[in-house]
Amino acid sequence: MFELPAALPILGSKSVLVSLDLAELDAEESIAELRLLVASAKLAVVGEVRGKVVRPDAATYAGSGKVQELAALIASTGAQLAIFNHELSPAQQRNLEKALGVRVVDRVALILGIFSQRARSAEGKLQVELAQLERLRTRLVRGWTHLERQRGGIGLRGGPGETQLEIDKRLLAKRVSRLREKLENLREQRSVRRSKRKKTGLFTVSLVGYTNAGKSTLFNRLTRARAYAADQLFATLDTTTRRVFLDHGVEATLSDTVGFIRDLPHGLVAAFRATLEEVAEADLLLHVVDAASPVRDLHIAQVNAVLQEIGAAEVPQILVYNKIDCVPDHLQAAGAVERDEYGNIRAVRVSALQDLGVAELRGVLRDLASDHQPSTRTYQSQEAMAG
Ligand code: GTP
Repeated sequence: MFELPAALPILGSKSVLVSLDLAELDAEESIAELRLLVASAKLAVVGEVRGKVVRPDAATYAGSGKVQELAALIASTGAQLAIFNHELSPAQQRNLEKALGVRVVDRVALILGIFSQRARSAEGKLQVELAQLERLRTRLVRGWTHLERQRGGIGLRGGPGETQLEIDKRLLAKRVSRLREKLENLREQRSVRRSKRKKTGLFTVSLVGYTNAGKSTLFNRLTRARAYAADQLFATLDTTTRRVFLDHGVEATLSDTVGFIRDLPHGLVAAFRATLEEVAEADLLLHVVDAASPVRDLHIAQVNAVLQEIGAAEVPQILVYNKIDCVPDHLQAAGAVERDEYGNIRAVRVSALQDLGVAELRGVLRDLASDHQPSTRTYQSQEAMAG
C-alpha cells in the first residue's frame, strides 16, 4: 500500500517563518499572506526571519548567514519546523533540513497541505493527492529518503536487484495513473451533468476570486445556502453549484470555486482542471475582489493569470468589489454599477457580509440571465397564465 509522506506536520506545531524578498514590491503583503496561510494550516508561529536576497543561494536558498540566524532562532524557540515563503528545490530543502535538524516546508508544500486538510469531496481529495504525488515524483531523487522516510514513506520491499528508489518510483507511477483514470471518469460525469444543465438553457455563473475575497459569503447571500465561509484561506475547495432564483422565474446556476492565490502550484491547477472547467464554460464570471486589500489590483491580475491558464480568459467578467463595509469611502457606493465605454457592466460594489449592494447585483444577474435565457419567457408566460 502506497502512503504519502505526511503533507503537513501535526496541527499546532511550532514553526518559524522565513521570508527573503527578491526585491518584491509587495513583500509586506506577501508575508501577511504567509501568516494567514500558516494560520489556515493551524500551525503556531514562534518566530520570523526576514531579509532580502539578490539571488537565491543554490544550496540553501537563504545563504549561510541567514541559515545560522535561523538555526539560532530554532534553538531558542524550540521550533519544530521552518516554513519558507518561497519554492525550494529538492536539494535546497534537503540541505536546509540537514543544517537545521527540523523539517522544512516551502510555500508550495504549505498550500498543498492546506488543500489536503480541506478537501472534502471524493473528487477534491483525489485532485489534491494527484498534485501531491506529482510533486513528490519530481523530488524522488537519490537521497530523498532521509527525513521523508521517517515521516512514513513507501514501505514495500522489492524483488532482487530493485532498489528502494526504483520501487518507490514504480509504485508512485502506478498510483498516479490510477488516480488520473479515476479523475477522468469523474470529469466525464461532470461534463455530462454540465451539458444537461446547458440544455435547460440556464444562465451559468461562476464565482472566482483570490482566496478570502468573500466568494462563499456572496454565494450564500445569492443562493441563501450555507456554503462554508471562514476566515481561512481556501475554506472552499470543491465546486458547489446551485440554482438561484433571481426573479419572476428567471434562474441561473451559480458555482462557488476554489480560491486562487499567487504562485498557485502549477500541479494543483492541473489537478483541479475538472472543477475549473466549470469556470471556463460559464456564461459569466463574477470576479470577487476584496476591495479593502491594499493590493487588490495585484490580486485581480493574479486571478486573471490563472483564468488565462485554465482557458477562461474570454468568459465575460464582472468585478464584484466586496467588503466595502471596510472601505468607508466606498460605503455610499454600495450597489453602484460601473460601466465601460461600451455600456457593458464592469463592476459592482457590495458587502456580502452586511448585505449591501447584493440586491443590485441580483438585479444585474437577473437582467443578464433573462437576456440569455429564452426559456425564461415561457416561464414568465406560464406564470402570467397561472396568475
Ligand atoms: P476561499 O475559500 O479561501 O477562497 O475564501 P472565499 O473567497 O470563499 O471567502 P469567504 O466567503 O470564506 O470569506 C472570507 C472571510 O471574509 C470571512 O471571514 C468572511 O466573513 C469575510 N467576509 C466576506 N465578505 C465580507 C464583507 O463583505 N465584509 C467583511 N468585512 N468581511 C467579509
